[in-house]
Amino acid sequence: MSTSPRPRVLMCPPAHFSVDYDINPWMTGNRDQADRDRAARQWDALRELVADVAEVALIEQVPGLPDMVFTANAGLVYRDLAVPSRFRHAERAGEQSHFTRWFSAQRFELGPLEGIEFEGAGDALLDRAAPRLWFGHGHRSDARAGDALGALLGIEVVPLRLVDPRFYHLDTCLCPLSGGHLLYFPAAFDPAAQAAIAARVPQDKRIAVSERDALAFACNAVNLDEVVILNRATPALRAQLEAAGYRVRETPLDEFLKAGGSAKCLTLRLDEPGLA
Ligand code: ARG
Repeated sequence: MSTSPRPRVLMCPPAHFSVDYDINPWMTGNRDQADRDRAARQWDALRELVADVAEVALIEQVPGLPDMVFTANAGLVYRDLAVPSRFRHAERAGEQSHFTRWFSAQRFELGPLEGIEFEGAGDALLDRAAPRLWFGHGHRSDARAGDALGALLGIEVVPLRLVDPRFYHLDTCLCPLSGGHLLYFPAAFDPAAQAAIAARVPQDKRIAVSERDALAFACNAVNLDEVVILNRATPALRAQLEAAGYRVRETPLDEFLKAGGSAKCLTLRLDEPGLA
């Protein structure tokens, strides 16, 4: 039995979730296509799985901000510091003040990146086994945010250029796991990024997923200790994760896939670094 405190996770009940605009390829053709009741049921099921292993904090969704449910984009949390997001698209900019106020109310110190686009824990993922931040850029976050984060956090920042528009945030194609494994979809990265990953994570710790799993958002997983919660995994991927010591929990989140998000996007880890 572990005696460490339970992880803490921020979620936002989808009271006003919808697909109202088109800022990523998943949203294209899906305007007004999300079923809010079904989304609410899927979100409740996810929250229950998360609450089995973590404390869940909630922020209320503001009407007119349909993507606010994706709390991964609130900001990057590191110890008592929160680096609020500065969204690339005007459609999401209204979320910033609400998330920033929430961080302040929770007594996080604020470390904003002035004038640089940065989409929080959608693009900045702490490794679970080393003091290292994986940082995705190329679609949403500005590459310059990487240097700023390195200076602010004082840990290694590994910039990774994303090249496939379907995987527009780092957390759609890469997930650091508690045992030091890295779950990822290599083709979403440019060759330099693939090399940067290979140079830091030994081959037996790299879990490369198929395009099929990637398109089902398998890399958009919530990993809390040995539990891995995700939308869907092929039997092959499930077997690979189980062989590596993880307990896989699938929970359908297709209503949120219509907006380009899944399990991990709907959560923000608040006790970082969350080393297992
Ligand atoms: N519709 C949202 C957007 O395009 C989805 C965000 C998903 N969040 C994430 N962390 N990948 O911004």
